[in-house]
Amino acid sequence: TTQDIIFVTCTAPVNIAVVKYWGKRDEDLILPINSSLSVTLHQDQLKSTTTVACSARFKEDRIWLNGKEENINQPRLQSCLREIRRLVRKRRSNRDPGADVLSLSHKVHICSENNFPTAAGLASSAAGYACLVYTLSRLLSVEGELSTIARQGSGSACRSMYGGFVQWHMGMRADGKDSVAEQVEPESHWPELRVLVLVVSAERKPVGSTAGMQTSVDTSSLLKHRAEAVVPGRMDEMIQAIRKRDFSTFGELTMKDSNQFHATCLDTYPPIFYLNDVSRRVIGLVHRYNRHYRETRVAYTFDAGPNAVIYTLQPYVSEFVQVVKHFFPPETNGEEFLKGLPVGTVSLS
Ligand code: PMV
Repeated sequence: TTQDIIFVTCTAPVNIAVVKYWGKRDEDLILPINSSLSVTLHQDQLKSTTTVACSARFKEDRIWLNGKEENINQPRLQSCLREIRRLVRKRRSNRDPGADVLSLSHKVHICSENNFPTAAGLASSAAGYACLVYTLSRLLSVEGELSTIARQGSGSACRSMYGGFVQWHMGMRADGKDSVAEQVEPESHWPELRVLVLVVSAERKPVGSTAGMQTSVDTSSLLKHRAEAVVPGRMDEMIQAIRKRDFSTFGELTMKDSNQFHATCLDTYPPIFYLNDVSRRVIGLVHRYNRHYRETRVAYTFDAGPNAVIYTLQPYVSEFVQVVKHFFPPETNGEEFLKGLPVGTVSLS
């Protein structure tokens, strides 16, 4: 019967960093070498949806991603399950031991899907792990610092636990308890802000973020300089710019931070190339557009792949989209501008 199966479904959106996380000081706990800051997109756009079911009849934990069963024994998945179950045990010993007959010994079945192509390299693991941890917490009714658990799935996932503008404090402790995400401002703080995703390539990235950042930590002196001497001040400036809704400072810092991240990739040995010729043409176009208006109206940022994410303000969206379509014909995917922090997808190749 279905009566002895309990399930919960939740969604979590993607986040796009404006001060990038790149490099770990602890591989197992996923503790970063610098703090980072991102914008969480609106729930209606790029997101993961996860259902977790729990039953006495399930013999083992299992997981399906986009309809295909995957190995549940991946260490990061196991860390998230273990940490959530640890919270369940803690709560049970604190109060009301009889209340949760369901939770501890029971196995879970997890189904997760993205409403965007995982292959496009658009922060799918961030939304996925944030969603998994949140859904498990609802199913098993646990509370606590859930961002530290999502962090152990994928570092950037901790930032998707909150909406709006979110910072991930690197923390000082060896056990990672202070390496947490915190909301800087809610989404409603800056209603004119818009996000545009320019899909340059839907191919898988050649070097995954885990391997890439490890090689960077091992070989790039620029990365060390960035983490120690650049990011701390940039975090403060970025937070001030967001608080004041100062787009030109926000945009300039965002572009500089993306450029420095990709410079550390080039400084890695052997070097890692995430940007391609189309990405570089987008960079050139944004600078030309801003120069035309003698003002930073549009900003780009790139993660571990060639796709551009554009931050701009509502009055400039339609003109900038026209400019992109003019320089990158023929356009294919029609763009959608929805409420909240809208995402448009313009395919460039
Ligand atoms: O969380 P990961 O391991 O997928 O790393 C994400 C790294 C970047 O996307 C390049 C930067 C960031 O802060 O999101």
